[in-house]
Amino acid sequence: MKTLVTAIQKGGQGKTFATCHLAFDFQERGLRVAVIDLDTQGNASWTLAGHDSGYPASRMFTAGGDELRAWFAGREDDGLTLIAADASLANLDKMDLAQAAGALRASIEALGEFFDVCLIDTAPSLGVAMTAAVLAADYMLSPVEMEAYSLQGMKKMVAIIGNLRKQNPKLRFLGMVPNKVDARKPRHVSNLATLQQAYPQLILPFSVGARDSIAEALGEQMPVWKIKKTAARKATQEVRALADYVFTKMEIAQ
Ligand SMILES: Nc1ncnc2c1ncn2[C@@H]1O[C@H](COP(=O)(O)OP(=O)(O)O)[C@@H](O)[C@H]1O
Ligand SMILES: [Mg+2]
Repeated sequence: MKTLVTAIQKGGQGKTFATCHLAFDFQERGLRVAVIDLDTQGNASWTLAGHDSGYPASRMFTAGGDELRAWFAGREDDGLTLIAADASLANLDKMDLAQAAGALRASIEALGEFFDVCLIDTAPSLGVAMTAAVLAADYMLSPVEMEAYSLQGMKKMVAIIGNLRKQNPKLRFLGMVPNKVDARKPRHVSNLATLQQAYPQLILPFSVGARDSIAEALGEQMPVWKIKKTAARKATQEVRALADYVFTKMEIAQ
């Protein structure tokens, strides 16, 4: 099983959008997909509620592999399985980071007996949960809006990734996805150009536009390609391009 974490320590960038759409796309490819929602806001848990396993995300840090195996062994699913956010995630910040990361790694290893790919959605703060997820993951993706505060958040994230990679050398940073880009806004165009210049290796070679149909789809608990509107077509192309890129980079074996 390959594990991807979607992280940036700023809200509203598109972490949950990306996690849910990668999950839907990978499910359609016939992969067995697990999504772990580590954000107490529970946005991914809402969008993927129809796929809930009943196993709470906080148990990934406290229960151990045996409980997890007992829960998932023989369980029927439709290829997409949610490990939903629960209130106890808030207690993680009291936990020792090394202990939390170790426990999460062990739980992910157990999950690997049942799934091909694991996607982790994180909260917009650099707490124990997000840090442990980055320490346990194989791949990381960071969506980012083309606004000043977001770019500041991105710069901090780049420094943090550098540090965390020392503790998790297998981590591969797939890059930043410019998200909610409005080509009619000169500010977005110039921020994108600045970012591409500053981090040529880290910015993905495409972006996702500000598309109302994406927000609509997440609220309707479905991928944007199931929204029957002409306006959803462009969004679908962009999101499929993102999924193709991530799928290829992750080299997921079935
Ligand atoms: N490309 C996009 N176009 C339009 N709306 C988007 C896009 N990506 C995300 N959104 C919306 O923006 C808000 C923040 O996105 P979300 O994925 O929840 O960010 P995060 O998880 O980083 O906080 C949500 O309401 C979501 O529906
Ligand atoms: Mg989110």
